[in-house]
Amino acid sequence: MKVVMRLAFLFLILASIDSTQSYKILVYSPRFSQSINNFLGNIADTLVDAGHNVTTLIPIIISELRDGTHKSKKIHIQPSEETTNIADSFKYEDGDFINDNDLNIIHSVMFGKFFTGLLNSGCPLIAELDVHSFSSRLLNMYANFVYFVAFYAGKAEINTLFKERYGPEFPGVHEIGSHAAFNFINTEPLIDFAAPTLSRIVAIGGIGAKEPKKLDGELDLILSLRQKTVLLSLGSIVQSFTLPLQIKQNIVKVISQFPEVTFIWKYEYPEDAFAKSVSTTTPNLHLFKWMPQNDILADKRLTAFITHGGMASTQETALRGKPGIYIPFFGDQFRNAGMMQKNELGTVFDKHNLYNADKLHAAVKDLLENESYYENAARVAAMISKKPFSSKELLVKTVEFAAEFGPSPALRPQSYDMSWIEYHNADIIAVFAVLSFFIVVSTLKVVKCVLKKVLRIVKVKEE
Ligand SMILES: *[C@@H]1O[C@H](CO)[C@@H](O)[C@H](O)[C@H]1NC(C)=O
Ligand SMILES: *[C@@H]1O[C@H](CO)[C@@H](O)[C@H](O)[C@H]1NC(C)=O
Repeated sequence: MKVVMRLAFLFLILASIDSTQSYKILVYSPRFSQSINNFLGNIADTLVDAGHNVTTLIPIIISELRDGTHKSKKIHIQPSEETTNIADSFKYEDGDFINDNDLNIIHSVMFGKFFTGLLNSGCPLIAELDVHSFSSRLLNMYANFVYFVAFYAGKAEINTLFKERYGPEFPGVHEIGSHAAFNFINTEPLIDFAAPTLSRIVAIGGIGAKEPKKLDGELDLILSLRQKTVLLSLGSIVQSFTLPLQIKQNIVKVISQFPEVTFIWKYEYPEDAFAKSVSTTTPNLHLFKWMPQNDILADKRLTAFITHGGMASTQETALRGKPGIYIPFFGDQFRNAGMMQKNELGTVFDKHNLYNADKLHAAVKDLLENESYYENAARVAAMISKKPFSSKELLVKTVEFAAEFGPSPALRPQSYDMSWIEYHNADIIAVFAVLSFFIVVSTLKVVKCVLKKVLRIVKVKEE
């Protein structure tokens, strides 16, 4: 269950119905991550296209980002002083993403507190999981626990805020969430790990990817330069220009070992000394501060993608049929990367190995030469495009259904009302454990007694 609850900050609130079956819909989309803005923005726009009256409520957290919606009505909430302070206190440029370890509980609690303090929501997970290995399963359990602890404080904080405002009787977010008619999650089942799920959970992965536009200008020219072109981007949180110098030099070294391939690298600070020097010495490398990633991935001339494995990036990669090297840095990126490798759409590359140019070279060579990645990627892309029900159809029909009928008690799992002990049958297991213990102890006692008697008889006989 927990496996499927992923970064899906989606809140649809449905109001009155008018005769033409056009619904008033509110989409809540905090502006703090471009890929999540795009995901929620496309949801709003898809519902507008379906004829509904959609308003998007946008609390501004990081003001530099763009809104994801272009068609719905927007209400912006300016950041409070507190929000600005929290957002400013955490500069992505200052993050040490190479050495940070999500499974370090202290770090995770601080990271979790930062995000929940900002957003009061979230639940990423790690699962690269070898289901046959004891240690791998144990690590997975531990990871679950770390994330639970990391986000616990934030959840408690929202409940406190609501109770302060609306009185102590106000139900917690857990309780309110348990009565939602449906839960939309940002996952694509055709590439995700299969997991037990609920009928009211609807997967609408891929909906965040905009319709691709044809490339023009400089990028169009660059993609025509050589037979093969590889895109390299580590997303918007891990900024390439802040990577340790040795890693940046290794990346350039490996790129120069493939002179017949063009590399496009999202490098946020192309004016720095490093960028200026490599631009002149490495003709097959092109640095861009920002680029239309979705449009480049959709271009037939693009060969492969080297990515951090963010949810939006992995979905776009699969959607556009490109294989990749996935270098996860934190959070759900490990899980996403593992999922792509499991589908043989490329390989996971450990971020620490960026210090080893030979390993990076081997991974890039494998990516460029192993035909099976390209066949698998093309097949997955074709399957996604021919799904019986597209993510857009699922979204629109499900929202309209929910607006007409509201939540159905039949879809609400009873586990919401169960305690931890009940849910895990811990009481039953405990009773059996105690019983087994007594049975074993008394059996041992009896055996000991019998043995003693037998030995005594034997001794008596011998005498
Ligand atoms: C959409 O909903 C808003 C808010 O209730 C309302 O003011 C507006 O008139 C509606 N627009 C249309 C076209 O129905
Ligand atoms: C290519 O990749 C596939 C899938 O990961 C793997 O099974 C195969 O051994 C690789 N082939 C070569 C030649 O490395």
